[in-house]
Amino acid sequence: MPAKAIRVHDFGGPEVLRWEEVEVPDPGPGELLVRHTAIGLNFIEVYQRAGLYSNPLPFVPGNEAAGRVEAVGPGVREFQVGDRVAYGTAPVGSYAEVRVVPADRVVKLPRDVGEKVAAAVMLKGMTAEYLLRRTFPVRPGQTILFHAAAGGVGLLAIQWAKALGATVVGTVSTDQKAALARKLGCDHVVVTSREDFVDRVREVTGGRGVPVVYDSVGKDTFAKSLQCLAPRGMLVLFGQSSGPVPPVDPAVLQKGSTYLTRPSLFAYNSRREDLLESAAALFEQIESGHVTVDVQHSYPLERAADAHRALEGRKITGSCLLLP
Ligand SMILES: NC(=O)c1ccc[n+]([C@@H]2O[C@H](COP(=O)([O-])OP(=O)(O)OC[C@H]3O[C@@H](n4cnc5c(N)ncnc54)[C@H](OP(=O)(O)O)[C@@H]3O)[C@@H](O)[C@H]2O)c1
Repeated sequence: MPAKAIRVHDFGGPEVLRWEEVEVPDPGPGELLVRHTAIGLNFIEVYQRAGLYSNPLPFVPGNEAAGRVEAVGPGVREFQVGDRVAYGTAPVGSYAEVRVVPADRVVKLPRDVGEKVAAAVMLKGMTAEYLLRRTFPVRPGQTILFHAAAGGVGLLAIQWAKALGATVVGTVSTDQKAALARKLGCDHVVVTSREDFVDRVREVTGGRGVPVVYDSVGKDTFAKSLQCLAPRGMLVLFGQSSGPVPPVDPAVLQKGSTYLTRPSLFAYNSRREDLLESAAALFEQIESGHVTVDVQHSYPLERAADAHRALEGRKITGSCLLLP
């Protein structure tokens, strides 16, 4: 079946995202054909487009979407034509009107979770889930530092961390982002263009530091994030929006006997049972109202390049959708 999709033929800047006709095959054994209602935009797609995370060329980028099942491949019993579904840990290929996807990467949507909300949260919200509940399980009364607090993952994570009973210190680059983070519960917001987050963490924790720093900014924040840790604290480096962190000497962890981990949602949710549990926990947070999803940005799918420019230009707050 012919369909429209964004395709990358050469790694590079946003201009390599080309709106093209592609041929979509019938679903094979264990696969579904899903027609997308909405597609989530994620920073990982910047890495894919630029070639930092490499895929064989040409490829359709994208990792997160929601829609309806249009056809079911042989051997698939869990899904039927018409089911409302979403995914956030499928192989690349979500920047498309319609695609084939492995059924074991897909979840059904609860009645009260709309397709646009699902497309906005599957990858980002399940990331918040594993970071806060499995990488470093946050306990009531703990103070945590979360960078890029007004970003896609950030806004979901700060709300979830509040629901877990934490005090949240968040970093953002502008006053507008600060206001948004504060509105969604961030207790101490550091505007990095004019304030040092290490000083603020020391002030908020009486000099002790925090038991965990969630750092997706990478190159620009890594060294200072380590300085924010309490003895035996954990630095969770889960991204590199400012660029990759250069190689580090393990001796940097010695002073406070601290821990460093570099986790990935794809590893945490690689087993189907983990994916289902992660998605269920996310839907529960949304249905209970602990985590709200207010999508402020959307672009037609064919203008994915503009969405990438805005994301890399730090212009996006919360989740952003691409609409086919
Ligand atoms: N490991 C995993 O499992 C996993 C899963 C999902 C996402 N991630 C990572 O989590 C991060 C957040 O993803 P997201 O999709 O929600 O993106 P996002 O947070 O909405 O966007 C990135 C944010 O990073 C901040 N930033 C700081 N320095 C930057 C720079 N030099 N260039 C661009 N942005 C910069 C900006 O916020 P300020 O302007 O406020 O500083 C920007 O808005 C990404 O690094 C992504 O790769 C990792």
